[in-house]
Amino acid sequence: MNTVLIGSQWGDEGKGKVIDVLTDKADFVVRYQGGSNAGHTVIAEGKKRVLRLIPSGILHEGKTCVIGNGVVMNPLDLIEEIDQMRATGVDPTGRLFISTRTQMVMLYHRALDKAEEAARAPAKKIGTTGRGIGPAYAAKVSRTGFRCGDMLAKNFLEKVREQVVETNAKLKMLKAERVDEGDAIEVPGCTIKDYQLDPDEIVAIYKVAAEKLAPYIKDTVPMLHKAKAAGKSILLEGAQGTMLDIDFGTYPFVTSSNPTSGGACIGSGLSPRDIDCVVGVIKAYTTRVGAGPFPTELYNAEDKQDPDGKLMAERGHEFGAVTKRPRRTGWYDAVVARYAQQVNGVDYWAMTKLDVMDPFPKIKICVAYELDGQVIDYMPTSADELARVKPVYEEMDGWMCETSNVTRIEDLPPKAKAYVDRLVELSGGKLGILSIGPARESTLRIAL
Ligand code: GDP
Ligand code: IMO
Ligand code: MG
Repeated sequence: MNTVLIGSQWGDEGKGKVIDVLTDKADFVVRYQGGSNAGHTVIAEGKKRVLRLIPSGILHEGKTCVIGNGVVMNPLDLIEEIDQMRATGVDPTGRLFISTRTQMVMLYHRALDKAEEAARAPAKKIGTTGRGIGPAYAAKVSRTGFRCGDMLAKNFLEKVREQVVETNAKLKMLKAERVDEGDAIEVPGCTIKDYQLDPDEIVAIYKVAAEKLAPYIKDTVPMLHKAKAAGKSILLEGAQGTMLDIDFGTYPFVTSSNPTSGGACIGSGLSPRDIDCVVGVIKAYTTRVGAGPFPTELYNAEDKQDPDGKLMAERGHEFGAVTKRPRRTGWYDAVVARYAQQVNGVDYWAMTKLDVMDPFPKIKICVAYELDGQVIDYMPTSADELARVKPVYEEMDGWMCETSNVTRIEDLPPKAKAYVDRLVELSGGKLGILSIGPARESTLRIAL
């Protein structure tokens, strides 16, 4: 049984937690896209860990974790993450593998990410994580990127030097275009003076990184197919979410990869025929971090201060797992959920953070949009249109009591059960998991 797990909204749905829970039935866990823009939280045995590149199954002994070819991997971030894992008693050696085909995020991609964002006019800023994701995927499709396998080649450092020199020329142009105040861009781990990187410094950094990561690099395609032939079960871990997908999300306010389930095959080397099940992780309300349209938005750090949204943000601790940026919050959007069900083929929902809604006397659900005076039940194509829609709401009674101590779905307060049932009914698919707290134990497994 091979399962793809995707984010159904704008990321941070609780994918890390659900992957950790589902790993008990898997042999392999594979990340298939994104990079260290992700922050996947796992709370197990009283310890909280935030994973950026290493698959969230790593805490389960004996499971093999793979960073697939669809990922853009920053070697320096991965080394840091491996060290952090070791320091908390988990040694990934021998069960973490990086595909030889995985593209790399280099320090100069991070510099470009910052410089491009600084050159965008205020209304055009994407609010990227600054992790170099866009420039790394751009390098991949323009065929100038490095793949992990290249780190093992003799001429790797020579090529790195060439890329730094080329990037410095681009950075010079971006410096002239910048609209932000100030004169500097910063990337932790390297020196940037006057928008220029030092080729010697960068080459020295990658010499060390290549030596450290060499033991983890492997052609993972035959490895996964061999596992499949031996009847092993593979769990494919998406990062970000459907509405951040480069094709299906709120373009251009998106990430640069395909978090949707189709990306799982492209990003791992498994074929569509190998996928048995798609799990959509979805919050019982909605959040978004970074810029772009968000129809049911109630609260953000700038201009929206609705008390219901503020309560969601507070109870849900809605801050970026890595960036610590405050997340925007709003009611559940069933138009988003239905769209996610369609483009991903969601079989089962893993619904998270129901407990956050415990104290609300009334809860709204967005069931359709009104666009320029017309009611629509589908996702508009353009971000401009989505920014103009008004949500059509229905309202339900809240349950106003604690759900985080419930251990069986039958014991949920009836009004909480009615809310979950209504969300599933509006969204399509079936309920597989209900999460009622951040820890591994706070999970009701219904069908998975
Ligand atoms: P991911 O990027 O999809 O893995 O999600 P994040 O880890 O960025 O954000 C999800 C946050 O919600 C984390 O802080 C989790 O610990 C937390 N979380 C996950 N499931 C639940 C839940 O059911 N209830 C509550 N209260 N918190 C949850
Ligand atoms: P996980 O896997 C939430 C958002 C950024 C920005 C946009 C583009 O933890 O759910 P990028 O750095 O990718 O070029 O930024 O995408 N974004 C995320 N939002 N969760 C994430 O990952 C995200 N990864 C990127 O905030 O709006
Ligand atoms: Mg996250």
